[in-house]
Amino acid sequence: MSDPTVGIIGGTGPQGRGLAMRFAMTGLPVIVGSRQDGKARDIAEGLNGALEKHGRPFHAIEGLENRAMAGKADYVFLTVPFENAERTVEGLSGAFRQGAVFVDVTVPLRFGKGDVQLEVPPEGSASRQLRKILHPSIPLCGAGKTLPAHVLEEISIPLDCDTFVFGDDKAAKGGLMELMARIPGLRPLDVGGLSAALTVEGMTALLIRLNRRYKSRLGRFGVVGLGA
Ligand SMILES: NC(=O)c1ccc[n+]([C@@H]2O[C@H](COP(=O)([O-])OP(=O)(O)OC[C@H]3O[C@@H](n4cnc5c(N)ncnc54)[C@H](OP(=O)(O)O)[C@@H]3O)[C@@H](O)[C@H]2O)c1
Repeated sequence: MSDPTVGIIGGTGPQGRGLAMRFAMTGLPVIVGSRQDGKARDIAEGLNGALEKHGRPFHAIEGLENRAMAGKADYVFLTVPFENAERTVEGLSGAFRQGAVFVDVTVPLRFGKGDVQLEVPPEGSASRQLRKILHPSIPLCGAGKTLPAHVLEEISIPLDCDTFVFGDDKAAKGGLMELMARIPGLRPLDVGGLSAALTVEGMTALLIRLNRRYKSRLGRFGVVGLGA
Protein backbone atom coordinates (compact mmCIF):
# COMPACT_ATOMS: atom_id res chain seq x y z
CA MET A 1 0.00 0.00 0.00
CA SER A 2 1.29 3.49 -0.83
CA ASP A 3 2.13 6.02 1.85
CA PRO A 4 -0.85 7.96 3.20
CA THR A 5 -1.10 11.65 2.39
CA VAL A 6 -1.33 14.04 5.32
CA GLY A 7 -3.47 17.14 4.79
CA ILE A 8 -3.74 20.06 7.19
CA ILE A 9 -6.69 22.47 7.23
CA GLY A 10 -5.31 25.87 8.25
CA GLY A 11 -1.84 24.40 7.87
CA THR A 12 -0.47 27.92 7.39
CA GLY A 13 -0.52 28.66 11.15
CA PRO A 14 2.22 27.64 13.60
CA GLN A 15 0.63 24.35 14.66
CA GLY A 16 -0.08 23.25 11.10
CA ARG A 17 3.35 24.33 9.87
CA GLY A 18 5.05 22.39 12.65
CA LEU A 19 3.07 19.23 11.96
CA ALA A 20 3.64 19.62 8.21
CA MET A 21 7.42 19.78 8.59
CA ARG A 22 7.58 16.90 11.07
CA PHE A 23 5.55 14.67 8.73
CA ALA A 24 7.50 15.80 5.65
CA MET A 25 10.70 14.77 7.42
CA THR A 26 9.32 11.22 7.69
CA GLY A 27 9.05 11.12 3.89
CA LEU A 28 5.26 11.24 3.81
CA PRO A 29 3.44 13.41 1.27
CA VAL A 30 2.01 16.46 3.05
CA ILE A 31 -0.41 19.13 1.82
CA VAL A 32 -0.77 22.39 3.69
CA GLY A 33 -4.30 23.78 3.32
CA SER A 34 -5.49 27.36 3.50
CA ARG A 35 -8.57 29.39 2.65
CA GLN A 36 -6.39 30.94 -0.06
CA ASP A 37 -4.60 28.79 -2.57
CA GLY A 38 -1.80 31.33 -3.08
CA LYS A 39 -1.11 31.58 0.65
CA ALA A 40 -0.95 27.79 0.93
CA ARG A 41 1.58 27.63 -1.90
CA ASP A 42 3.70 30.42 -0.40
CA ILE A 43 3.76 28.80 3.04
CA ALA A 44 4.59 25.40 1.52
CA GLU A 45 7.46 26.98 -0.37
CA GLY A 46 8.76 28.58 2.83
CA LEU A 47 8.53 25.30 4.73
CA ASN A 48 10.36 23.46 1.97
CA GLY A 49 13.06 26.12 2.16
CA ALA A 50 13.42 25.62 5.91
CA LEU A 51 13.55 21.85 5.47
CA GLU A 52 16.17 22.16 2.73
CA LYS A 53 18.27 24.36 4.99
CA HIS A 54 17.98 21.74 7.70
CA GLY A 55 19.79 19.38 5.35
CA ARG A 56 18.00 16.10 6.02
CA PRO A 57 15.87 14.19 3.49
CA PHE A 58 12.21 15.20 3.29
CA HIS A 59 9.18 14.92 1.02
CA ALA A 60 8.40 18.31 -0.57
CA ILE A 61 5.29 19.89 0.97
CA GLU A 62 2.46 20.96 -1.33
CA GLY A 63 0.11 23.89 -0.72
CA LEU A 64 -3.55 23.93 -1.76
CA GLU A 65 -6.83 25.59 -0.89
CA ASN A 66 -8.47 23.66 1.99
CA ARG A 67 -11.19 22.01 -0.08
CA ALA A 68 -8.82 20.82 -2.81
CA MET A 69 -6.48 19.52 -0.11
CA ALA A 70 -9.29 17.61 1.65
CA GLY A 71 -10.03 15.75 -1.58
CA LYS A 72 -6.48 14.39 -1.71
CA ALA A 73 -5.59 13.60 1.90
CA ASP A 74 -5.95 10.31 3.79
CA TYR A 75 -5.51 11.98 7.18
CA VAL A 76 -6.95 15.48 7.45
CA PHE A 77 -5.71 17.43 10.46
CA LEU A 78 -7.71 20.45 11.60
CA THR A 79 -5.51 23.29 12.87
CA VAL A 80 -7.68 26.40 12.73
CA PRO A 81 -8.68 28.43 15.83
CA PHE A 82 -11.49 26.56 17.59
CA GLU A 83 -13.92 29.46 17.24
CA ASN A 84 -13.66 29.04 13.45
CA ALA A 85 -13.62 25.24 13.43
CA GLU A 86 -17.36 24.59 13.11
CA ARG A 87 -17.82 26.87 10.12
CA THR A 88 -14.64 25.57 8.50
CA VAL A 89 -15.74 21.93 8.77
CA GLU A 90 -19.25 22.78 7.53
CA GLY A 91 -17.66 24.46 4.53
CA LEU A 92 -15.75 21.30 3.68
CA SER A 93 -18.86 19.13 3.55
CA GLY A 94 -18.54 16.55 0.78
CA ALA A 95 -14.89 17.42 0.14
CA PHE A 96 -13.23 14.49 1.92
CA ARG A 97 -12.09 11.43 0.04
CA GLN A 98 -13.52 8.04 0.89
CA GLY A 99 -11.71 6.39 3.79
CA ALA A 100 -10.21 9.65 5.06
CA VAL A 101 -9.66 10.06 8.80
CA PHE A 102 -10.35 13.46 10.35
CA VAL A 103 -7.92 14.48 13.09
CA ASP A 104 -8.98 17.26 15.44
CA VAL A 105 -6.08 19.27 16.89
CA THR A 106 -8.16 22.22 18.14
CA VAL A 107 -8.39 23.31 21.75
CA PRO A 108 -11.09 25.75 22.89
CA LEU A 109 -8.93 28.12 24.93
CA ARG A 110 -9.46 31.71 26.04
CA PHE A 111 -6.29 33.66 26.74
CA GLY A 112 -6.57 36.38 29.34
CA LYS A 113 -4.07 38.59 31.11
CA GLY A 114 -1.41 36.13 32.22
CA ASP A 115 -3.80 33.19 32.23
CA VAL A 116 -5.52 30.71 29.97
CA GLN A 117 -8.91 29.07 30.42
CA LEU A 118 -10.58 26.12 28.77
CA GLU A 119 -13.94 27.15 27.34
CA VAL A 120 -15.91 23.93 27.30
CA PRO A 121 -18.38 23.86 24.39
CA PRO A 122 -21.98 22.81 25.16
CA GLU A 123 -21.36 19.42 23.51
CA GLY A 124 -18.70 18.65 26.16
CA SER A 125 -15.48 19.14 24.18
CA ALA A 126 -14.17 20.61 20.95
CA SER A 127 -13.96 17.19 19.36
CA ARG A 128 -17.51 16.28 20.37
CA GLN A 129 -18.78 19.48 18.82
CA LEU A 130 -16.99 18.70 15.56
CA ARG A 131 -18.26 15.11 15.66
CA LYS A 132 -21.79 16.51 15.47
CA ILE A 133 -21.01 18.42 12.29
CA LEU A 134 -18.77 16.01 10.44
CA HIS A 135 -20.51 13.42 8.24
CA PRO A 136 -20.99 10.21 10.29
CA SER A 137 -19.13 8.17 7.67
CA ILE A 138 -15.88 10.04 8.42
CA PRO A 139 -14.05 8.77 11.50
CA LEU A 140 -12.96 11.52 13.89
CA CYS A 141 -9.89 11.17 16.09
CA GLY A 142 -7.91 13.62 18.16
CA ALA A 143 -4.13 14.02 18.34
CA GLY A 144 -1.50 16.69 18.81
CA LYS A 145 -3.66 18.80 21.13
CA THR A 146 -0.96 19.10 23.80
CA LEU A 147 1.98 19.56 21.41
CA PRO A 148 3.22 23.16 21.42
CA ALA A 149 3.70 24.67 17.97
CA HIS A 150 7.08 26.20 18.81
CA VAL A 151 8.40 22.73 19.69
CA LEU A 152 7.08 21.21 16.45
CA GLU A 153 8.45 24.06 14.37
CA GLU A 154 11.94 23.86 15.85
CA ILE A 155 12.98 21.09 13.50
CA SER A 156 16.66 21.21 14.43
CA ILE A 157 15.69 19.79 17.83
CA PRO A 158 14.41 16.20 17.76
CA LEU A 159 11.16 15.62 19.60
CA ASP A 160 11.16 13.75 22.88
CA CYS A 161 7.53 13.70 23.88
CA ASP A 162 4.16 11.99 23.88
CA THR A 163 0.88 12.77 22.19
CA PHE A 164 -2.54 11.65 23.31
CA VAL A 165 -4.60 9.95 20.61
CA PHE A 166 -8.31 9.24 20.97
CA GLY A 167 -11.25 8.21 18.83
CA ASP A 168 -14.22 5.87 18.80
CA ASP A 169 -13.30 4.14 15.52
CA LYS A 170 -10.63 1.66 16.55
CA ALA A 171 -9.27 1.05 13.04
CA ALA A 172 -8.98 4.78 12.32
CA LYS A 173 -7.32 5.39 15.66
CA GLY A 174 -4.89 2.51 15.08
CA GLY A 175 -3.91 3.95 11.70
CA LEU A 176 -3.43 7.38 13.23
CA MET A 177 -1.29 5.94 16.04
CA GLU A 178 0.96 4.37 13.40
CA LEU A 179 1.09 7.64 11.49
CA MET A 180 2.07 9.69 14.56
CA ALA A 181 4.67 7.08 15.55
CA ARG A 182 6.49 7.71 12.26
CA ILE A 183 7.65 11.06 13.66
CA PRO A 184 10.94 10.37 15.47
CA GLY A 185 10.78 11.06 19.19
CA LEU A 186 7.00 11.26 19.30
CA ARG A 187 5.22 8.53 21.23
CA PRO A 188 1.48 8.24 20.58
CA LEU A 189 -0.51 7.14 23.62
CA ASP A 190 -3.98 5.66 23.13
CA VAL A 191 -6.16 7.41 25.72
CA GLY A 192 -9.46 5.88 24.62
CA GLY A 193 -12.54 7.08 22.79
CA LEU A 194 -14.03 10.47 22.08
CA SER A 195 -14.99 10.80 25.75
CA ALA A 196 -11.28 11.43 26.49
CA ALA A 197 -11.30 14.67 24.47
CA LEU A 198 -12.32 16.98 27.30
CA THR A 199 -9.55 15.69 29.57
CA VAL A 200 -6.93 16.12 26.84
CA GLU A 201 -8.16 19.61 25.98
CA GLY A 202 -8.09 20.51 29.69
CA MET A 203 -4.51 19.22 29.95
CA THR A 204 -3.47 21.64 27.24
CA ALA A 205 -4.73 24.58 29.30
CA LEU A 206 -3.01 23.20 32.39
CA LEU A 207 0.29 22.68 30.59
CA ILE A 208 0.30 26.17 29.11
CA ARG A 209 -0.27 27.56 32.61
CA LEU A 210 2.53 25.41 34.05
CA ASN A 211 4.90 26.28 31.21
CA ARG A 212 4.31 29.97 31.88
CA ARG A 213 4.71 29.66 35.62
CA TYR A 214 7.81 27.47 35.58
CA LYS A 215 9.26 28.81 32.33
CA SER A 216 9.68 25.29 31.00
CA ARG A 217 10.12 24.88 27.31
CA LEU A 218 11.34 21.66 25.80
CA GLY A 219 11.34 19.48 28.91
CA ARG A 220 9.19 16.39 29.03
CA PHE A 221 7.18 18.10 31.74
CA GLY A 222 6.13 20.87 29.39
CA VAL A 223 5.48 18.64 26.45
CA VAL A 224 3.54 16.05 28.37
CA GLY A 225 6.03 13.29 28.85
CA LEU A 226 5.36 10.24 30.93
CA GLY A 227 8.91 8.97 30.83
CA ALA A 228 10.34 6.24 28.65
N1 LIG B 1 -0.25 26.93 18.67
C1 LIG B 1 -0.09 25.90 19.49
O1 LIG B 1 0.95 25.77 20.20
C2 LIG B 1 -1.14 24.83 19.56
C3 LIG B 1 -0.93 23.68 20.35
C4 LIG B 1 -1.92 22.68 20.40
C5 LIG B 1 -3.11 22.87 19.70
N2 LIG B 1 -3.30 24.00 18.97
C6 LIG B 1 -4.56 24.19 18.27
O2 LIG B 1 -4.28 24.17 16.88
C7 LIG B 1 -5.11 25.11 16.21
C8 LIG B 1 -4.22 26.03 15.38
O3 LIG B 1 -3.36 26.75 16.21
P1 LIG B 1 -2.46 27.93 15.57
O4 LIG B 1 -1.75 28.58 16.69
O5 LIG B 1 -1.68 27.40 14.44
O6 LIG B 1 -3.64 28.90 15.03
P2 LIG B 1 -3.67 30.20 14.14
O7 LIG B 1 -2.30 30.58 13.69
O8 LIG B 1 -4.45 31.25 14.86
O9 LIG B 1 -4.56 29.73 12.89
C9 LIG B 1 -4.16 28.70 12.04
C10 LIG B 1 -4.76 28.94 10.67
O10 LIG B 1 -6.19 28.89 10.76
C11 LIG B 1 -6.72 29.61 9.66
N3 LIG B 1 -7.79 30.50 10.09
C12 LIG B 1 -7.68 31.62 10.85
N4 LIG B 1 -8.87 32.21 11.00
C13 LIG B 1 -9.75 31.45 10.31
C14 LIG B 1 -11.14 31.56 10.08
N5 LIG B 1 -11.88 32.59 10.53
N6 LIG B 1 -11.72 30.58 9.33
C15 LIG B 1 -11.00 29.56 8.81
N7 LIG B 1 -9.68 29.42 9.00
C16 LIG B 1 -9.06 30.35 9.74
C17 LIG B 1 -5.59 30.45 9.05
O11 LIG B 1 -5.24 29.85 7.81
P3 LIG B 1 -5.58 30.52 6.38
O12 LIG B 1 -5.67 32.01 6.57
O13 LIG B 1 -4.39 30.15 5.58
O14 LIG B 1 -6.83 29.89 5.93
C18 LIG B 1 -4.47 30.29 10.06
O15 LIG B 1 -3.19 30.34 9.48
C19 LIG B 1 -5.93 25.84 17.28
O16 LIG B 1 -7.21 25.27 17.35
C20 LIG B 1 -5.17 25.56 18.57
O17 LIG B 1 -6.02 25.48 19.69
C21 LIG B 1 -2.34 24.98 18.88
